[in-house]
Amino acid sequence: MDIQRVGVVGCGLMGAGIAQCAAESGFEVWIKEADEALLDRGLARIAGTWDRAVAKGKATEAQREEWRRRLHGTLAFDDLASCNLVVEAIPERLDLKLQAFTHLDQVLGPEAILCTNTSSLSVAQLSPVLALQRLSRLAGLHFFNPVPAMPLVEVVRTLATGAETLADLQAFVKALGKTPVLAPDAPGFIVNRLLVPYLLDAMRCAEQRLATVEDLDMGMKLGCGHPMGPLHLSDFIGLDTMQSVAEVLFEAFGEPRFKAPALLRQLVAAGRLGRKTGSGFYCWEGEKRLEAMPL
Ligand SMILES: NC(=O)c1ccc[n+]([C@@H]2O[C@H](COP(=O)([O-])OP(=O)(O)OC[C@H]3O[C@@H](n4cnc5c(N)ncnc54)[C@H](O)[C@@H]3O)[C@@H](O)[C@H]2O)c1
Repeated sequence: MDIQRVGVVGCGLMGAGIAQCAAESGFEVWIKEADEALLDRGLARIAGTWDRAVAKGKATEAQREEWRRRLHGTLAFDDLASCNLVVEAIPERLDLKLQAFTHLDQVLGPEAILCTNTSSLSVAQLSPVLALQRLSRLAGLHFFNPVPAMPLVEVVRTLATGAETLADLQAFVKALGKTPVLAPDAPGFIVNRLLVPYLLDAMRCAEQRLATVEDLDMGMKLGCGHPMGPLHLSDFIGLDTMQSVAEVLFEAFGEPRFKAPALLRQLVAAGRLGRKTGSGFYCWEGEKRLEAMPL
């Protein structure tokens, strides 16, 4: 299928990034929000990114006009009716996603592909509200944060996802200038399944005073060539998010390596959630990481 018109549901952190990348890559994009103020705020954030790109000489004014022309905001599912592909990026709640998928299945054409950007829910759990013939066109499309900067997208297949759908999605991801990897519809997909135990292990090392927070991070950064150490990265992701992802994976696999360490729970309970609250393993000033905080 020739994907030309892309729908995005949710204009938050991830949806806005996905819509921005799709518009920049030549797709006509309809982004659907739940309320007008949030839609305006999300669109203004995208417009601000484009303005800064022009100011820095990374894009021309003509490009910015072209991108703006391709991006359409809406509050109605009906406006997504002509889309060949819709990516849902609303909050991580099954009830909300089921409602959205019920609407989408009704308004979309029979050939349209329907994807979720979920990080932790099973993609197949969305099947019951879809028509039987849609099931081969249901998949996960898991983008990473921040979407415009992160080059990977996990293309998640359920047992019903069709080969054509997977090929279309891989081509779409490449058209965004990103790299697709095929992942099974299993908790954590590929990246979080491998990354999360590593991050939790680093927390256990800090908890057992194996080394200082700075030295644990420096060891992995310089010793393994990672762009940032595991505790720094956990602060960046958000320690509350880390805790909930660990809970989902521990529930699914029951293996101790997925269990949230006591230190993580204590930090979350203390409101030290990482960068977003100004403290976690480190002290933060906006985007800037300062010294490690006492544990
Ligand atoms: N934040 C991350 O780092 C990250 C990374 C990968 C995947 N994800 C996944 O992406 C999804 C979205 O996460 P986010 O961080 O962008 O959330 P967010 O809270 O920033 O944005 C969600 C948006 O969806 C809107 N929304 C809710 N119901 C809606 C509806 N019926 N129609 C249209 N819009 C609706 C909300 O108003 C909100 O603006 C989640 O499933 C999350 O697990 C998040």
